[in-house]
Amino acid sequence: MWLKNARAVIASALVILNVSSIAHATAIPPPTGPYHVGVRKYTIKHYNDHDPIAPNHVSTAFLATVFYPTAQIPEGAPKPYLNPETAAFYEDAWNFTSGTLASLTSTVQPGAPFLETRGAPHPTLLFGPGGGGTPVEGSTILLAELASHGYAVVGLDHPFEQPFVRFPNGTGVAGVDIPDDVTAESLNDLRLEDNAVFLDLHLPRLVREKQLPLSTTRLGAFGFSVGGAAALGTAQSSSRVASGLNLDGTLLGGPALNNSAADVRKPVYLLGNEGHTFGEEGGDYTWVSFPRWQTAYQRKMLINGTTHLDFCDDTFWKTLEDGAGYAGSIDGFEQIKILNAYVRAFFDLTLLGRNSAILDGPSPEFPEVVYFDV
Ligand SMILES: *[C@@H]1O[C@H](CO)[C@@H](O)[C@H](O)[C@H]1NC(C)=O
Ligand SMILES: *[C@@H]1O[C@H](CO)[C@@H](O)[C@H](O)[C@H]1NC(C)=O
Ligand SMILES: *[C@@H]1O[C@H](CO)[C@@H](O)[C@H](O)[C@H]1NC(C)=O
Ligand SMILES: *[C@@H]1O[C@H](CO)[C@@H](O)[C@H](O)[C@H]1NC(C)=O
Repeated sequence: MWLKNARAVIASALVILNVSSIAHATAIPPPTGPYHVGVRKYTIKHYNDHDPIAPNHVSTAFLATVFYPTAQIPEGAPKPYLNPETAAFYEDAWNFTSGTLASLTSTVQPGAPFLETRGAPHPTLLFGPGGGGTPVEGSTILLAELASHGYAVVGLDHPFEQPFVRFPNGTGVAGVDIPDDVTAESLNDLRLEDNAVFLDLHLPRLVREKQLPLSTTRLGAFGFSVGGAAALGTAQSSSRVASGLNLDGTLLGGPALNNSAADVRKPVYLLGNEGHTFGEEGGDYTWVSFPRWQTAYQRKMLINGTTHLDFCDDTFWKTLEDGAGYAGSIDGFEQIKILNAYVRAFFDLTLLGRNSAILDGPSPEFPEVVYFDV
């Protein structure tokens, strides 16, 4: 699913950051790992003259947001968690009282020093957000969790496609109405291009020029919705990526084919919502056909009580107000535990060689997670 809703709301919304509301703010669930978490943003210059969404089909840059482990302890007033424009957009679109999301805070520290790695760079995870939203910042809970356990997680936001993107130079870009001729496949192609350009050119450049301690060889890809579909496409096409995980995205491109061209030939994991594919008929056929063609390690699990939006931070947002958020019946805090545990377990296994029992069958600790023999 991706959003074709009017985006004019951003341009017209008068956003007032209410400082007194920050003082009484609610914090998002904090990461549970041994490290604190830093965040930095980088403009990735990439001239694209066939952008399906940007005005006149030209875009010149996208945004990379890096979450990473740091030893620095958060201090001072808590920081707002979302860009105010993003918060206002989802308050309006998903039926929250104005200010509910804008007043949330997080312990993620902009610009904090990287944790000392003693020459062994952090394993890197590439993350793709939902098509047309939520943007990378709307998956902060999961991304910060992974960073608190030692991963560097790089999320890529495409301007004009996401409801709002702010570049490090201060320029904010509001989303546009996604044109009617933009298909999920064209959005997937756009994501595959951004992922490839980032992995082949810009990640090695950031490591070289800015001395970022990110591994360019121990690397996994994951994402939400279209971002999850593209993660598997990128795992298939990029020799740099060792494994891929899809959070509730209908497959697109090669992995969606019902033949051997769907084979990623690397470890893959489909983790999705209950309604997504329980029915062999009427469900999402790509999640039925894809596992048939895989020749390497694979896992497929569905989480009872979830809907699509439980696979981003909305699973927490929905707990803030009755009737808002449009996500499923599962307790949002339980779903956060599930996503944190299973996503980390998969990358711990496929990048670090650490086994975890929760990947190998139904778990008494997480009864909502339905394990499929594939
Ligand atoms: C900031 O960066 C973006 C992305 O490269 C660019 O489109 C915009 O023009 C820049 N703004 C200024 C004021 O330089
Ligand atoms: C997918 O391929 C399998 C095996 O070739 C075949 O049995 C099945 O009917 C195909 N399904 C669809 C929907 O094309
Ligand atoms: C999960 O949902 C499926 C389909 O509704 C059902 O068959 C199954 O019993 C449920 N599993 C658990 C553990 O609730
Ligand atoms: C939106 O929220 C209000 C107040 O919580 C509620 O009365 C209403 O039913 C909600 N609308 C939808 C479509 O969920």
